[in-house]
Amino acid sequence: MIADVVVDLQYGDCGKGKITHYLCKYKKYTHVLRYNGGCNAGHTIFHEGKKFVTHHIPAGVFFGIKSIIGSGCVVSPKHFFQELEELKAGGIETDGLVFIAGNAHVITDDHISQESDETEIGTTRRGNGPAYSAKYARTGTLARDVPELQPYIINLYEEFHGSNRAKPIILCEGAQGFGLDIDHGDYPYVTSSHCTVAGALLNGIPHTWVRDVWGVAKIYETYVGSKDFEPEDEVFSHIRDVGKEYGATTGRPRQCNWMDFSLVEKALAINKVTKLVFNKMDVLREVDQWKLINDGELIDFEQETRMTSWIEENLPGDMEVFFSGSRYRI
Ligand code: IMP
Ligand code: MG
Repeated sequence: MIADVVVDLQYGDCGKGKITHYLCKYKKYTHVLRYNGGCNAGHTIFHEGKKFVTHHIPAGVFFGIKSIIGSGCVVSPKHFFQELEELKAGGIETDGLVFIAGNAHVITDDHISQESDETEIGTTRRGNGPAYSAKYARTGTLARDVPELQPYIINLYEEFHGSNRAKPIILCEGAQGFGLDIDHGDYPYVTSSHCTVAGALLNGIPHTWVRDVWGVAKIYETYVGSKDFEPEDEVFSHIRDVGKEYGATTGRPRQCNWMDFSLVEKALAINKVTKLVFNKMDVLREVDQWKLINDGELIDFEQETRMTSWIEENLPGDMEVFFSGSRYRI
């Protein structure tokens, strides 16, 4: 029994969709499990030349792998059915592949309307916080109690631990990121779920099954939400334009900054990452500036290779590091 986990090390939007899609293509998984969050997430995936944005449904579906929305998630039936239709319209076979854990919670219309004019945190207004609030107040609705979801309901215990089951090889796909995690993020500017490896385990994955933890970061940072994040410097508008940094779910412009290396280090330690990917190298190449922030100090490397060597030298030695972009392996 094996579980690989994909976690985001910053504020979401680091390219987990790309890495999950890559892993599904090259590793032999029996299941892909989304383990936290709801339709606040937007995972951009390019599959056979077509662009898809998924919110609820894990990327396994693109490769005929059983794709499960786990018990750590909250599900909006309306968005779920809409997304199934979009996938079908794009030529993706979903029949018999998409499932929802019976004990996942439901995002109701009431949860969505509770958030309709939220501005303090700058949420995605998808009812995520209210659905988790109801879950923990023990007044929520379980997916297994919603008649229209019945054909998709699965019991995760039976699926992963029941007798007569083939040994599962699971890819656990996280949503949002470390800086948005309810416990480790910059509270209250966080989401309402667990975005670390611990969040995957909460879905009934034993810790001994975990093989690799793929940590996904971006070579610069972006954040969407109400707090002030972007320093005053023209370069960040340039990064936003080149990197197409606009929300996949809400279309909002993402605030940009240089990578905070100290945040990445913290996320690496807490998730015990074994494979680390830095996405979007091409964007900084186009902008032609190579900077990061370490312990609050800005470091200007002037050249790409100076920055990548510095990063490799300053990371713990027990993980494999990939820089992702046109001159690299991934
Ligand atoms: P909520 O998750 O909709 O409650 O939003 C809480 C915070 O998390 C806000 O700052 C959102 O912009 C941010 N957020 C939620 N989901 C994502 C995501 O998938 N990518 C990036 N930011 C997100
Ligand atoms: Mg996203």
